[in-house]
Amino acid sequence: MSKKPVVVKTVGTLRKQVVELRRRGRKIALVPTMGALHAGHHALVRQARRRAEAVIVSVFVNPRQFAPTEDFSAYPRNFQSDLAALSGLGVDLIWLPTDAAMYPSGFSTAVEPGGPAKAGLEDTYRPHFFGGVATVVSKLFLQTMPDYAMFGEKDYQQLKVVTRMARDLDIPLSVIGCRTVREKDGLALSSRNVYLSPTERSIAPLLHRTLQECAAAIRTGKPVSETMLAGRAALTEAGFAVDYVEARHAENLAPVASRDEGPIRLLVAARLGKTRLIDNIAV
Ligand code: PAJ
Repeated sequence: MSKKPVVVKTVGTLRKQVVELRRRGRKIALVPTMGALHAGHHALVRQARRRAEAVIVSVFVNPRQFAPTEDFSAYPRNFQSDLAALSGLGVDLIWLPTDAAMYPSGFSTAVEPGGPAKAGLEDTYRPHFFGGVATVVSKLFLQTMPDYAMFGEKDYQQLKVVTRMARDLDIPLSVIGCRTVREKDGLALSSRNVYLSPTERSIAPLLHRTLQECAAAIRTGKPVSETMLAGRAALTEAGFAVDYVEARHAENLAPVASRDEGPIRLLVAARLGKTRLIDNIAV
């Protein structure tokens, strides 16, 4: 299915378009992105289409979720190829705000998430990150008023933070988590994979393989902490600088010592050269 999506760049035009979609009695699904779209994003859009008659994709590289030392200005941007992909996926509306449309001069409000945003995972290494995400995502929700909002399990802590935030702020929509899309060798698709050198790219799939090995060991009854220490050692040995590799409760992200404490999610963040990769799987 190919149709040209309407591209809007101001909140005023967006609101008119949303009213129009609603007037036709359509359910709306929103897919928030930062562009540089790959098959993982495409999968979110396809799931959005299955749930709702109208699909809005936002493309906005949100400066508030990057620290000054991070890759905001280098973050890959390629709107023409994003537009071509979204046309092929039958998207109705692309919300493409400028920085000034999202954060007009004088902007001074922030959403400060707690709970899963303070789990001691990504928040430890990127302390500004979830505040920036929660602020922009709550704005995206209020701007587009969708019935559904699609988020990838690839960013598992983000999925939990956004789910909690929507519930806490009584934003009337359902947050839908979508499975991680991977390369054939297991590497989770990410806009940042383009930064990997050929050698780093050949090592990168070990991140997922190590999580799988840890999950298998825990399933066969090996102690959780010992297993995760072995996982960390294997990654370090392969050349990763590990930020964390952890077993957490799949819902509240609290540390877990055994499978008796509830469903477990294994989460990892590690750097290969200058590139930081994250991944996670269920046990
Ligand atoms: P971005 O990194 O562009 O990701 C947009 C959405 O795509 C997120 O929900 C993310 O989890 C999902 N995604 C990324 N890689 C995926 C993969 N391999 N499989 C499945 N889903 C995948 O996440 C953000 O942007 C931003 O923080 C945002 C939510 C847009 C707020 O600025």
